[in-house]
Amino acid sequence: MKPNFDLTGKVALVTGATHGLGMAMAKALASQGAILVINGHSPAKMDTAIAQYAEVGITAQPFLFDVTDAVAVDRAMTQIETEIGSIDILVNNAGMIQRTPALEMLPGDFRKIVDIDLVSPFIVSQRVARTMVRNNSGGKIINICSMMSELGRDTLSAYAAAKGGLKMLTKNLATEWAKYNIQVNGIGPGYFATEQTAPIRVDGHPFNEFILNRTPAGKWGNPEDLGGAVVFLASSASDFVNGQILYVDGGILATIGKPGGE
Ligand SMILES: NC(=O)c1ccc[n+]([C@@H]2O[C@H](COP(=O)([O-])OP(=O)(O)OC[C@H]3O[C@@H](n4cnc5c(N)ncnc54)[C@H](O)[C@@H]3O)[C@@H](O)[C@H]2O)c1
Repeated sequence: MKPNFDLTGKVALVTGATHGLGMAMAKALASQGAILVINGHSPAKMDTAIAQYAEVGITAQPFLFDVTDAVAVDRAMTQIETEIGSIDILVNNAGMIQRTPALEMLPGDFRKIVDIDLVSPFIVSQRVARTMVRNNSGGKIINICSMMSELGRDTLSAYAAAKGGLKMLTKNLATEWAKYNIQVNGIGPGYFATEQTAPIRVDGHPFNEFILNRTPAGKWGNPEDLGGAVVFLASSASDFVNGQILYVDGGILATIGKPGGE
């Protein structure tokens, strides 16, 4: 039997999908037939995003809410369920990075990153899973992790702690909710060519040289490279895959690296 990657009629919510990796993954889900619901928290960015989706023939239904606010999440989920349908696929993509040396990190800033990158995927997953359980529908939850779920790097204490925690939250929810036919997996993107990284993706920039040297593939990822992974984990092709983190990183985590130029 052919593996089934079709998402026709499935309601997919992608948080933080007004641009960047979230938008690329949302487009991939829509390309397989998913009914797309996108979240953001900036009205201006949302208007631009809707137009960008429309340019490629995708109708994205916008819901503005702060993923860290459990009351706002509950209200939005109820509205989505009433107006569009129960969510079959949730991609917890909204996130934030802060680069501060650990010796200078303020506790409040540390908490803010953990709140957005770890607590909010829990809040949204719990709300979505409660409906999946009530409806006995099963479902797919995909947490966007990071190579920092496995590795440390200077200035990323809060981000690495949160993304490492998100990896373990993924495994724990997979364990608890497997009996409801809910699969919870993660995707760990490597270094991607997004608007944010444009200023450092230039010849001669030390970070650009570091990435090209450190990545066995010898290049930055394109956001579209995440499409196959998200569709796989959202589809019934992955029904027996649970609690896994799929790293889409050009091979970075497979290697200890190499001295420059060799
Ligand atoms: N860009 C990369 O190379 C890379 C690598 C590894 C992991 N990631 C992860 O992938 C995800 C997307 O990354 P990106 O580079 O596209 O990031 P980005 O900063 O461009 O986008 C993040 C999105 O999350 C939204 N967001 C942040 N806080 C929110 C909140 N409280 N409520 C609702 N929305 C909120 C932002 O508005 C934005 O749309 C993040 O979780 C990030 O940690 C990115």
